[in-house]
Amino acid sequence: MKIGIIGCGNISSIYFKNLTSGIWPQLDLIACADLDLERAKKSADAFSRVQVMDVQDLIASSEVELVVNLTIPQAHYPIALQVIHAGKHHYSEKPMALCAKESKHLLVEALKSGVQIGCAPDTFLGAGLQTAIDAIQSGKIGQVVSVTGQMICRGHEGWHPNPEFYYQKGGGPLLDMGPYYLTAMVAMFGKIKNVKAFNRKTFEQRTITSQAKNGTIIPVEIPTHTTSLLEFESGVIGTIVTSFDAHPNPSMPKISVHGTKGALEVPDPNTFGGKVLLIDENKEKKTLNLVNSFDENSRGLGVSDMVNSIEKGVLHQASGELASHILEVMEKILSEDE
Ligand SMILES: NC(=O)c1ccc[n+]([C@@H]2O[C@H](COP(=O)([O-])OP(=O)(O)OC[C@H]3O[C@@H](n4cnc5c(N)ncnc54)[C@H](O)[C@@H]3O)[C@@H](O)[C@H]2O)c1
Repeated sequence: MKIGIIGCGNISSIYFKNLTSGIWPQLDLIACADLDLERAKKSADAFSRVQVMDVQDLIASSEVELVVNLTIPQAHYPIALQVIHAGKHHYSEKPMALCAKESKHLLVEALKSGVQIGCAPDTFLGAGLQTAIDAIQSGKIGQVVSVTGQMICRGHEGWHPNPEFYYQKGGGPLLDMGPYYLTAMVAMFGKIKNVKAFNRKTFEQRTITSQAKNGTIIPVEIPTHTTSLLEFESGVIGTIVTSFDAHPNPSMPKISVHGTKGALEVPDPNTFGGKVLLIDENKEKKTLNLVNSFDENSRGLGVSDMVNSIEKGVLHQASGELASHILEVMEKILSEDE
């Protein structure tokens, strides 16, 4: 499958690396584009086979069959729509769009055009989360009653060179990091049917302290702390806290799953590997053997699964349907106290 990347910013380097590494020989990265042509040129520099194109030329290219969209959240939907209408498969970074109305529209348009759409995160296909899913499905902790997830940090303006989008519509801790946690939870327990939530904004402004923009003050347009209750169709009850406002307690697991016969400590869902700890009825802890080999940063694993699935005529796992469900859940959480 011939692939073009649109969006050559911060996250693109791992996609360039993995998509050209040969671990997934069915993927052939041939082109890249960015609004900022210099960024596209810099990204393509190390890869002789990757041709730099104008964004519209890449979308119209007769060679590119699948577009990987790594632009900012605001550009995911408009680019996806153009790509789908050009008859190409589309895989984007998260979130799939800015709202569920847009993501559902993409599903309809993709169906009409006969193309597939996929979306990150694909971390749930990695070794850590797949090991946790295997432990749950094989009954190691009995019937699951509860899951808790927490992503608590003081924001991204200390390290990200262009952090403005994290504090605008489409950003925020829930839309930014929630997809990892919620996708992991849905992969473990199935769809979420009900949410209750409280949201707050602790700071009206943030000061960038990273690199070139050090000292720049940016306004905060959205809630930056959310706490939610989740009811899964399977009966599991969950909680999730996402925050750009507070300091974490590093000794608390990112995700804990509690069952009638034991508990599981699940690794950070923003990683592919990590330790999966099984805590039994006697409170003894055991590290489980990982069930697959994708324990390093394997971004692109979802693209690889999508291409394999297209060839086999089956639905891929990091699907547009899944991402759209997650977006709908997040939208409900954010609208709870409007
Ligand atoms: N940075 C991370 O660690 C990280 C991790 C996981 C996921 N993501 C997700 O990846 C996406 C990109 O994040 P990033 O950190 O790489 O952002 P970034 O701002 O560093 O890069 C985005 C790139 O997209 C380009 N772009 C923006 N609008 C465009 C358009 N309309 N057409 C073509 N190019 C356009 C920009 O010029 C920029 O080079 C976001 O959705 C983010 O949530 C980022």
